[in-house]
Amino acid sequence: MLTEKYHSQIESTLAKYPADQKRSAVMPLLHLAQTEYGYITKDAMQEVADILEIEPTQVASIVGFYSLYYDHKAGEHHIQVCTDLPCALRGADKFAEDLCAKFGVKLGETTKDSKFTIEGVMCLAACDKAPMFQVQNKEGITYYENQTVESAAKVMEVLAKK
Ligand code: FES
Repeated sequence: MLTEKYHSQIESTLAKYPADQKRSAVMPLLHLAQTEYGYITKDAMQEVADILEIEPTQVASIVGFYSLYYDHKAGEHHIQVCTDLPCALRGADKFAEDLCAKFGVKLGETTKDSKFTIEGVMCLAACDKAPMFQVQNKEGITYYENQTVESAAKVMEVLAKK
């Protein structure tokens, strides 16, 4: 349980917001839950909702909206390729398709070794530098811009060795 393991961290997070605006702490608490469990489980959503005294459906809607949060088990590294329209016009769809093919998955799937989940996501604010992707993992988020399948595969090879 988050409240037992991270009691003081949760209290200090809640203290940053007015007592009647506890719901504002939903993002940091979801981040905490994801770090603890690897993804946002149904139980974690309920737990965060209980802490913030809001409905679990409200928590679920936030998890569903942000590409930072996962409601299912996935790879150790999330390779998030922007496939939004401006990037698609610069070849992002083909890049994503070819990268997936190189790693034997379809977009949204996880490699057999559970190292990578390759996903298509909406705008990551680097529209003029497509094809681009971000890597999300325990170390944080790292951007890679103006990519080719070969350069992306090299990034992934380094990550796989970690
Ligand atoms: S549309 Fe891809 S980064 Fe903006």
